[in-house]
Amino acid sequence: MQRHRQNERSVTNHCEWLAEPEVFDRFGITLDVVIRTCRREDLPVLEWFGQFTPDRGIMEDTFAAQARGESLMLVAEVNGVASGQVWIDLTRREVDSTGVIWAARVLPCLRNRGIGRRLLETAERILRDRQFARAELSVERSNVAALRLYERLGYTRVNTRPVRDGEVTFDPIAILVQGDQWLLRKNLGTREHAVSGTGGLRPRMTRARTDEA
Ligand SMILES: CC(C)(COP(=O)(O)OP(=O)(O)OC[C@H]1O[C@@H](n2cnc3c(N)ncnc32)[C@H](O)[C@@H]1OP(=O)(O)O)[C@@H](O)C(=O)NCCC(=O)NCCS
Repeated sequence: MQRHRQNERSVTNHCEWLAEPEVFDRFGITLDVVIRTCRREDLPVLEWFGQFTPDRGIMEDTFAAQARGESLMLVAEVNGVASGQVWIDLTRREVDSTGVIWAARVLPCLRNRGIGRRLLETAERILRDRQFARAELSVERSNVAALRLYERLGYTRVNTRPVRDGEVTFDPIAILVQGDQWLLRKNLGTREHAVSGTGGLRPRMTRARTDEA
């Protein structure tokens, strides 16, 4: 019985020791962040130590689309390492003058420092420069933190997109999605949008459909 108690105590002490590591030093660092288009040599780095290796094909396809001028892969380079990304599909909803932003992510250790916001703002600036009327993105309904960030940036929920777990969606590039999604949009306030009053169609375009993706 006593031995049992001793074991219990040593397990408890061990857990306490694991729960509260001893801190030996603490200091802050300043890092420069550069937001730029993705280079081929970034692709393996963007797999993030294997976490996104299953998406290698999607990355390769999107990189090829960037080379064709159909997509942009923005990366946030921190200390020489591609540590965050946002991709822009310039063609999928071009007919609606809508740029589709997707694959937003930042390395966990660098989150909550403003990198995600700057990536998104850069994507919007690029879309504005190209006279897109609006930006669109999707987020899993359970992803409360990302949703909060997008809404703070001015995106509004326009629809939900129910999907079965693991369903492949997002043509033309298929990706796996995990659960129901919100579809969000933001008007970019481009001159065409304000002047036309027709939902911001780019001058050479006509509205073909108003699907909610
Ligand atoms: C969503 C995601 C890309 C956001 O990137 P991020 O770099 O953390 O974003 P930001 O730092 O700009 O903003 C996140 C929060 O940090 C806060 N923040 C920004 N700069 C800060 C700073 N210097 N100090 C403290 N907080 C800061 C923001 O106000 C925001 O607060 P909120 O949680 O109350 O909304 C990132 O969390 C991520 O990669 N998530 C996992 C993948 C994912 O879910 N992607 C979205 C798919 S749709």
